[in-house]
Amino acid sequence: MARRRKKAKSKIHFAQFLVHGPTYHSLAMWRHPETQAAGWDWSRPELYQHIAQVCERGLFDMAFFADLNYIADTFRGSMEPSLRYATQAPEHDPLPLLSFMAAATKHIGVAATFSVSHHHPFYAARLWASLDHLTGGRAGWNVVTSINSNQAANHGEERAPTEQRYERAFEFMEVCRKLWDSWEADAVVMDAPGAVFADADKVHRIEHEGRFFKSRGPLNVVRSPQNGPAILQAGTSPQGRDFAARHADAIFAIQPRAEDAGAYLADIKRRMADDYGRPPGHCRILFGAQPIIGESEAHAREKQQIHNELVPLDGGLAILSAHLDFDLSKIPPEALMAEREEPQLHRMRTRFLKPDGSSMTMAEVAQRHGQGVGLPQFVGTAEGVADQMEAFMETAGGDGFMLTPIYSPGAIEEFVEQVIPILQRRGLYRTEYKGRTQREILRQED
Ligand SMILES: Cc1cc2nc3c(=O)[nH]c(=O)nc-3n(C[C@H](O)[C@H](O)[C@H](O)COP(=O)(O)O)c2cc1C
Repeated sequence: MARRRKKAKSKIHFAQFLVHGPTYHSLAMWRHPETQAAGWDWSRPELYQHIAQVCERGLFDMAFFADLNYIADTFRGSMEPSLRYATQAPEHDPLPLLSFMAAATKHIGVAATFSVSHHHPFYAARLWASLDHLTGGRAGWNVVTSINSNQAANHGEERAPTEQRYERAFEFMEVCRKLWDSWEADAVVMDAPGAVFADADKVHRIEHEGRFFKSRGPLNVVRSPQNGPAILQAGTSPQGRDFAARHADAIFAIQPRAEDAGAYLADIKRRMADDYGRPPGHCRILFGAQPIIGESEAHAREKQQIHNELVPLDGGLAILSAHLDFDLSKIPPEALMAEREEPQLHRMRTRFLKPDGSSMTMAEVAQRHGQGVGLPQFVGTAEGVADQMEAFMETAGGDGFMLTPIYSPGAIEEFVEQVIPILQRRGLYRTEYKGRTQREILRQED
């Protein structure tokens, strides 16, 4: 009788979450004793080059930057808690760092967030095509539609309603793609004796006239290695999911419970197949996770406690208020968050649930948001963390994790040195990069 071959498990993908500032997700990070002892300057490129090299040693798909354009006064109408607790504030522009990081590495993707809510698509298309050239096809653009009123005000605008935010985002992307396509692949001839640099028949105007934008084209940037960067997305509304299913090569998602992650993943992959005819491996879903690795289980728990106790509750309330664009000082600390009616709170509903599905109180949610924006902490020895990740992936059904550290540098190194080899031994993780561009590495199956 023929033995049934065991189905090979799909490989996990990893990305590293970063912010060009003192605080990534954890509000404790900048003043954690390990960060302080390491003594790196977060405003200098050397730190990020070092992190990119560590992540490349770990064969990660990418190093990824979030980005916000404001110092929030959402909580209690004051900037004081944002500045005092460094709630992703200050935040320097991450885009210049991508070139520094690519120059110090060979394979890893370098990705950053750039909002489509404030600029013209010609500017974005040119910027990202140029970055794709400079990084040798390793650039990734996290396309977000911004919801914070402080950010809108910094650009002299009002925050737009969800429908309109995404209508504009779809058109923004359409214009960018037309501009990237405006140079045919063989438009550059470089015929020096004949004095022909580019074939004018292969460079086209786009003549775009839409609801939000007009652009004549062509782009004045030669077609880049990926023809524009890899596209990432992070948004949870039905419109955001539709945008991801259509355009994204990867999604950064926060679903603390593996069952919710599974439902989210199934929804995206179904939308990709049914609505856009895309194969499931063409968009990787990376679930946020915060590993805390100890020499023993007890040591890991102690590290978790030291970290979590450094998180100021008011800081958690301030950063969550900014992320929701809703002043949480209006809600009592004992209120059950998942039962609240305010529409602004709905987008993070799954982050407000305990493992058993019951609701956290506002104080609990704020504490967790300050620890790591509500994403799950995987705490244990390296073997234990690998076990937890394997179990999460099995329930969720793929694709991987966006890791966020409790201190930096240090925590990323621990993960790469201790957890990656265990996952490789289990056959759950790649042992080499296959592919040259960011998109090819994201699509890598083995
Ligand atoms: C995991 C995650 C990460 C995000 N990162 C950023 C970011 O770095 N910058 C930003 O402006 N918005 C960021 N956002 C906000 C989204 O792009 C979007 O504005 C928000 O989720 C509202 O969109 P939605 O209505 O589709 O949920 C992020 C959202 C999620 C879920």
